[in-house]
Amino acid sequence: MSNEVKRDGFGSKIGIIAAAAGSAIGLGNIWKFPYITGENGGAAFILVYLICIALIGLPVMVAEFTIGRRAQKNAVGSYRTLGSGGPWFLGGFLGVITAFIILAYYGVVAGWTIKYVIFSLGNNFSAMNTGEISELFGDFISRPVEPIIYQIIFMAFTSFIVFFGIKTGIERASKILMPLLLVLILLLDIRALTLPGASAGFNFLFKPEWSRLSATGVLEALGHAFFTLSLGMGTMITYGSYIRKKENLVSTAFSVTIADTVIALLAGLAIFPAVFSFGVEPGAGPGLVFVTLPQVFNQITGGYFMSIFFFILLALAALTSSISILEVVVAYLDEEFKIKRHVATIGAAAVITLMGIPTSLGFGKMSGVTLFGYNFFDAYDKLASNFLMPLGGLVAALFVGWGIKWDIVEDELTNGGELKGKVTLVAIKIFKHTIRFIAPVAVLIVFLYKLGAFNAIIA
Ligand code: TRP
Repeated sequence: MSNEVKRDGFGSKIGIIAAAAGSAIGLGNIWKFPYITGENGGAAFILVYLICIALIGLPVMVAEFTIGRRAQKNAVGSYRTLGSGGPWFLGGFLGVITAFIILAYYGVVAGWTIKYVIFSLGNNFSAMNTGEISELFGDFISRPVEPIIYQIIFMAFTSFIVFFGIKTGIERASKILMPLLLVLILLLDIRALTLPGASAGFNFLFKPEWSRLSATGVLEALGHAFFTLSLGMGTMITYGSYIRKKENLVSTAFSVTIADTVIALLAGLAIFPAVFSFGVEPGAGPGLVFVTLPQVFNQITGGYFMSIFFFILLALAALTSSISILEVVVAYLDEEFKIKRHVATIGAAAVITLMGIPTSLGFGKMSGVTLFGYNFFDAYDKLASNFLMPLGGLVAALFVGWGIKWDIVEDELTNGGELKGKVTLVAIKIFKHTIRFIAPVAVLIVFLYKLGAFNAIIA
């Protein structure tokens, strides 16, 4: 497909927000956020995560939008154009590599959601207790073939959409479907919060116990801020290039960030009261949502239908995210190497799917095999989320803060001086300091903290 078509961009304000929010809101909010919150001890982790979102995530999103809209290109091309041939393009390149790693395991979990639609249709959970539901999950993900088939089905859907460039259709649909997901989550919240013993879950989420937070937890919170907002990988650069010149980039980034954060917190509120009420281990890992929510559905009149809809919507939320990941790779191959869009799509999706297979097998047949002491799944996730994405975000922050002239940034953020509102001007001032100093320094501190660089000083 020609570049001209893509560069037409999003047609309306709400269209941009829906597309960028579609990318941001996905498994990260509903599957990953709850389980890493559980693994890292709850409220204290959430507070650090919220600080990372505000001080690092939001400014980096503004920075990525700025890069993309200014350059009107894919992630690598954008850095190359604005960085006038300097080494900055490596930042875009890093993003393409990260995209391969993330989508490899993202596709596996998204495959699980499809299976859960089928479980729900078959009314599989209704007569089951906690132990049985968790056994069902454990049994399914450890099978050698079936989860891979669902992964392939999901990746086929993803490729299909990127292949035909019908993102617009999907985005139009998600404008209706995602609010529906929000309604379902709210209903789940109400039911979960009224379960016996729900308050323990509420406290777990909102009463910080700092002793439970480790250096790893802080790094995970940072990594997740990038993951959930689709940052540090070129996605928001690519999407920024589709945003019309008259839109306000700062306020767009703000809306997307708020929507993403609200959904994550509401998902946590649906899950943790149930975790405590049903006696599930909060640190149960990637299965947490899949083991907990079916039990909440069991407690709701009409839970049978809600469960079907919920997992369908979750699969669709994953799809609007996965297309944005694959799009980074395809836009790069298409624009930089002039590889035909369908060849690029199929080639990239095939390689990514193959890369994902060991992460699936790691839950069963290959559970003994480790990389850096982690199973394949965690190794991919930790490498991408906790290292490559913060690094990619750091590059974006340094590039916008120091690599290009501030006049250019200001011109882009004010739409060439058109936007003169007080709020916008103040926001740009705050942005200037955050992107130049606070965000880069914060990322570096977290990296050093994790490496134990401060132990010597503190001890
Ligand atoms: N943000 C998505 C989620 O929360 C996942 C995602 C989409 C992503 N595009 C990304 C993560 C780019 C990192 C980078 O599910």
